[in-house]
Amino acid sequence: MTSSSLQSSPWWRDAVIYQVYPRSFADGDGDGIGDLPGITARLPRLAELGVDAVWLSPFYPSPQNDAGYDVSDYRDVEPLFGTLADADRMIADAHELGLRVVVDIVPNHTSSEHEWFRAALAAGPGSRERARYLFRDGRGEAGELPPNNWVSVFGGRAWTRVTEADGSPGQWYLHLFDATQPDLDWGNPEVHAEFEDVLRFWLDRGVDGFRIDVAHSMVKEPGLPDWSEDDRPMQGTAEISETRRPPMWDQEGVHDIYRRWREVVDSYDGDRMLVAEAWVTPYERLARYTRPDELHQAFNFDHCVAAWLPEAQREVISTSLAGSEAVGAPTTWVLSNHDVVRHASRLGYPPATRGLGGIGPRDEQPDRGLGLRRARAATLLMLSLPGSAYLWQGEELGLPEHTTLPDEVRQDPAWLRTGGEQVGRDGCRVPIPWEADAPSYGFGPGAASWLPQPPEWADLARDRQEGVEGSTLETYRAALRLRREHGLGRGALHWLEEHCGPTSLGLRNGDVTVLVAFDEPLPLPAGSRVLLASGPLDADGTVPSDTTVWLRTP
Ligand code: NOJ
Repeated sequence: MTSSSLQSSPWWRDAVIYQVYPRSFADGDGDGIGDLPGITARLPRLAELGVDAVWLSPFYPSPQNDAGYDVSDYRDVEPLFGTLADADRMIADAHELGLRVVVDIVPNHTSSEHEWFRAALAAGPGSRERARYLFRDGRGEAGELPPNNWVSVFGGRAWTRVTEADGSPGQWYLHLFDATQPDLDWGNPEVHAEFEDVLRFWLDRGVDGFRIDVAHSMVKEPGLPDWSEDDRPMQGTAEISETRRPPMWDQEGVHDIYRRWREVVDSYDGDRMLVAEAWVTPYERLARYTRPDELHQAFNFDHCVAAWLPEAQREVISTSLAGSEAVGAPTTWVLSNHDVVRHASRLGYPPATRGLGGIGPRDEQPDRGLGLRRARAATLLMLSLPGSAYLWQGEELGLPEHTTLPDEVRQDPAWLRTGGEQVGRDGCRVPIPWEADAPSYGFGPGAASWLPQPPEWADLARDRQEGVEGSTLETYRAALRLRREHGLGRGALHWLEEHCGPTSLGLRNGDVTVLVAFDEPLPLPAGSRVLLASGPLDADGTVPSDTTVWLRTP
């Protein structure tokens, strides 16, 4: 890249974007549920951390059956979280602090409380109102069987039968998620027009971008054919199949939607951006979402699921960089979010033995020390890479998953719909600790917290780590500063073959050399100047196992 193209390159190409989960970030009014005024008050802490942007999970009016991913009005703010004026203030304050603001948009489904769905129920079969959703007659003699065999990502069937206005059993509607999240019919132009208008509503209020929820699901295969339950993809992953692609994921038609959305955001000034949440593999299939006239970024979940092993990490990094470069998009990196087990716990098991699904009190518990050590090493590897990185609130404190939440406090619809078979995602969503000695660890002004916080989180509270050399918080802060100073996000990666082996990885990005010791210690090359390490080095200058170091390349 030339220096002039570096300067003109838009912010999102190398941005570090911090995910805020409004329920669990900071509670301004003390009701135990986080809110927009709470977020606004804490924004300076995020600016100090050194991130470029915040992405907020949905804060729109919602019955909260799926923590806000069940939206009943796309143009307002959920009263639990504040008001539209609070949203405007949050956006303005973030901009004042130099932070961009990305908001969530949930276009696959609305809440069953949305006025469109209420109207659809009232209007009956064949109506214009029903045509905005995927209503179908049932199979069987009296329509008593669902229209196809699809199952919900949260467990159980993906269809619910309605009772018609005259009291008779009626049609069925599709919901790939909870029954309170009816899927929209993106074959209907009215749906397109509505969402383009919603995009404009928030762009006009100054947001810098959108994270698109289940971006690979809006278009379904015509005829909604049966799909074998054995091949049911986890969390909607659209594995490419030799014979057939799952009829509910990654259909060609979604790309037309994004071409149109790209035109909408491009009609605004200020490098607004769109990022897909799309559980699509292989990577070349995902990269198609980021072709030049489509979305700017897509979350790299291959990176999130990759085992903490040198060959697996090298493979996912190389494949992702090559796949994104082929379409001219930046790669993204992500280790944790509100849907997966926090990486400080996930990595506390033997490599490649644990998936992303929740951990409950009856499960084997992770090794906390090992998990944190590996999480910090994985984070320093991630932040050394070219592209854009996503951080999940609390990972900068080294928070583990809450793995012993009692059954009765769980709220994830996946837990509720599977009768506890799927533990669900509550364990990564626990309100985060700010002050060790305050009630609710400073999450709010009182003790209330919508999910209980584990007692051992006092030691991880932000104020215990601030200014403490080597703390997870200070390590993140230093990494973000160095990443910026050395232009790592806009750099290029070269593997250092002499440091790549069965227990280590080495790479160079600009003037920084990165070494990762996996399950064996690694000697530091002679004359190395250490810029940053994910954990203490041995006295003789050896990099201990599960540690990443950044060195100044001579
Ligand atoms: C993906 C979101 O990240 C998740 O939290 C939500 O449950 C589903 N989409 C359904 O909206």
